[in-house]
Amino acid sequence: MRVKYIKPILMTCALLGLSQWCGASFAQSADQLYKRGLAATCANCHGTDGKGVVDGGMPLINGLSSQEMLTQLKAFKSGAREGTIMPQLAKGYSDEQLTTIANQLGKKQ
Ligand code: HEC
Repeated sequence: MRVKYIKPILMTCALLGLSQWCGASFAQSADQLYKRGLAATCANCHGTDGKGVVDGGMPLINGLSSQEMLTQLKAFKSGAREGTIMPQLAKGYSDEQLTTIANQLGKKQ
């Protein structure tokens, strides 16, 4: 859901006197959508399940733990690891966003 829809929904909640209930549940789902939205960017190349498009030269990332993925993303961002696409991409995210993405996509131990 796009951010512009959030306001009307919250206003509707307030009008209906449901602000307490709406606020709590909506804040939670908006947070989930934000996290999934950030991670969804990666699916274009790495696949929705992290399996990657191997024939297209995209590496598999579904074997990495969240910590391993974060380490690689930060290395791309800092320039410690070279690459074609990832260095440019990683630089566009804050460290906090990279952590969120890695937590969302990394293999759960
Ligand atoms: C446009 C295609 C593209 C997108 C979008 C993309 N990647 Fe990548 N990714 C690559 C390529 C290509 C590589 C190999 C390194 C390079 O050349 O940059 C790579 C490498 C990686 C690696 C290193 C894998 C390893 O085995 O060490 C990680 C981790 C990774 N990507 C995570 C992500 C995450 C997280 C996102 C979403 C924020 C993302 N990628 C989005 C193309 C992409």
